[in-house]
Amino acid sequence: MNNRTLGIIGGTGWLGRAIAEALLDSGFIEPAALLISNRSGRSTLRPDVRVLADNQQLVALSDVLVLSIRPEQFRELRIDASGKQVISLMAGIPAAVISAATGAQTVVRAMPNAAVEIRQSYTPWYSTGALGDMDRQWLQQLFECVGAADEVPNEDCIDYLSALSGTGPAFPALLHQALASQAVAAGIPHDIAQRAARGVVVGGGQMLASRDPLQMIEALMAYRGVTAAALQSMSEQGIDAIVGRALQAGAEVARRGM
Ligand SMILES: NC(=O)c1ccc[n+]([C@@H]2O[C@H](COP(=O)([O-])OP(=O)(O)OC[C@H]3O[C@@H](n4cnc5c(N)ncnc54)[C@H](OP(=O)(O)O)[C@@H]3O)[C@@H](O)[C@H]2O)c1
Repeated sequence: MNNRTLGIIGGTGWLGRAIAEALLDSGFIEPAALLISNRSGRSTLRPDVRVLADNQQLVALSDVLVLSIRPEQFRELRIDASGKQVISLMAGIPAAVISAATGAQTVVRAMPNAAVEIRQSYTPWYSTGALGDMDRQWLQQLFECVGAADEVPNEDCIDYLSALSGTGPAFPALLHQALASQAVAAGIPHDIAQRAARGVVVGGGQMLASRDPLQMIEALMAYRGVTAAALQSMSEQGIDAIVGRALQAGAEVARRGM
């Protein structure tokens, strides 16, 4: 099932490279079945992975193509990928646009996040064409090389989730900043505020890996202590609505296209 040749256009970039390395390290693909292209033809990837400067040559040699270039770079890309399966990792480029520009009948859109670096991405994916069981399993396994993955029911889920999981560490980082800066404003020394906020975001986040968040909130609310008072205040001020508006604002950018 894994004997397909995979070509990654932009495979020396930040995301493409992280994925290429994960696919190789996990044994999902052999170096001989992986091809990379960029504009210079140069790479610091392991020497047994072939790097090309000619995208059309990469297309000809590959069964499946991954587009891991920036949306603005896509506008300059000229390839004929008719008859090939194309997987796009680009935010804000609809499958129909990719299909029209490349000639590919089947386009898979996937949206990993920055946690590919530690192989803990969450990657939703959607295929415009009907997939057989083998193809579906192959794609799911490919994305699981960098973390967890789900096939989603429609393309709009990809645009919405670009603003949710595609943002990776952005929301935790914002919460970290808010906690630390508010603590400093309340008189807590800067370094202590930073370490306390880190404990919440990083330590608390790790605990959630094995616990149900809703059950945790309910248990803390039932205790009616310090934590309950803080959570209730946040809830009364409309945390759900704030998050909802933020996600819609991001999703609108993805839907509008980049
Ligand atoms: N960063 C994230 O958290 C994240 C999450 C999900 C999805 N994405 C998506 O991932 C995509 C790539 O982002 P990135 O951060 O990895 O960008 P990046 O580091 O700038 O990588 C882009 C790569 O594309 C190559 N490239 C550019 N134009 C090319 C062309 N015409 N032909 C062949 N190769 C070309 C570049 O190499 P040369 O300059 O050598 O050609 C480079 O290797 C974006 O579309 C983004 O929306 C990113």
